[in-house]
Amino acid sequence: MAVTISIGSGKGGVGKTMILCNLALLLAKRGKKVCLVDLDIGGADAHLLFGLFNPKHSLADFLTRKVDSIQDVVHTFYSLNGLQLIPGSGSTLQTANMTFQEKQRLLRSLNTLDVDVILIDVGAGTSYHTLDFFMFSDIQICVTLPEPTSIMDFYSFLQLATIRKVLSSFLSSSQVSTTLKKQSFSSLAEVLELAEKTQPGAKEKAQKALRYFHPLLVVNRDTTNGKVNKNKLNQMINKYLGIEVPSLGNIPEDKAIADALKAYMPICELSPNASASKAMLQITEKIEKLIELFRPSIKPEEQKKESI
Ligand SMILES: Nc1ncnc2c1ncn2[C@@H]1O[C@H](COP(=O)(O)OP(=O)(O)OP(=O)(O)O)[C@@H](O)[C@H]1O
Ligand SMILES: [Mg+2]
Repeated sequence: MAVTISIGSGKGGVGKTMILCNLALLLAKRGKKVCLVDLDIGGADAHLLFGLFNPKHSLADFLTRKVDSIQDVVHTFYSLNGLQLIPGSGSTLQTANMTFQEKQRLLRSLNTLDVDVILIDVGAGTSYHTLDFFMFSDIQICVTLPEPTSIMDFYSFLQLATIRKVLSSFLSSSQVSTTLKKQSFSSLAEVLELAEKTQPGAKEKAQKALRYFHPLLVVNRDTTNGKVNKNKLNQMINKYLGIEVPSLGNIPEDKAIADALKAYMPICELSPNASASKAMLQITEKIEKLIELFRPSIKPEEQKKESI
């Protein structure tokens, strides 16, 4: 089964799609079978970054059951190391308001893709869909710019993702879940307090669920005078949300990105020596190591061969 990686952010326009498209391409160039899924319903544009203007099929065709299999909406870039893309274009009211069952069908079908890595662009914001798609993955990446407003949005995004994670650790029919869903919260502490009040032991259960939630931080459009104090940020996140956010790396502000956009090519393909491309390569190398940790070490058919 593929390792899944999702990318999210509180604020829009922070570079999620640019990062994920380049990460997908670099992983494909390094020998991985990769599928990039554009779940940015309403704002899908990953296909444009690869110069694919009118995809024959998109995710909407699968969601509206115009096609039976998710495989029918996969586009393969044979000239880009066989990189696969599920374009997200063509959003309709139906696709924007997916039901729980539709969401489950989509997530189940992603698990059937015959690839090593699935990269999911969940889009910006904190809707239930966005948070659920973000949390679905084995590895989560969250992006911020080095500006205070972006960092605040990043913090709010993480806070809501954390609360969603806590909620999903209880059965939806349970007393705790029913009570928590009725309330709105301004901090994780409030959630844990109410959970414990509703059912003794719930706090510990929730904290246990959070132990495995380690979203990775990327600071994009980094400039010399806009440095983020990652230690302080991590301390604050740890204190108030009870989670760690390890750094995956920084990507500098780079004019070459605009040129790549105009050329409809990922920057790592057009200008591999640009500073942003080099930063992307370092991030890819780290991600590659993580993928190995998540991947079952030997595929079943290889296991059979080994035992003969
Ligand atoms: N490091 C960078 N240097 C210069 N420009 C950048 C950098 N990163 C991203 N950009 C530019 O910022 C804009 C937004 O990037 P992108 O579309 O990838 O963001 P996004 O987070 O996916 O946005 P949305 O939330 O709307 O989907 C694009 O024009 C992109 O080329
Ligand atoms: Mg985007």
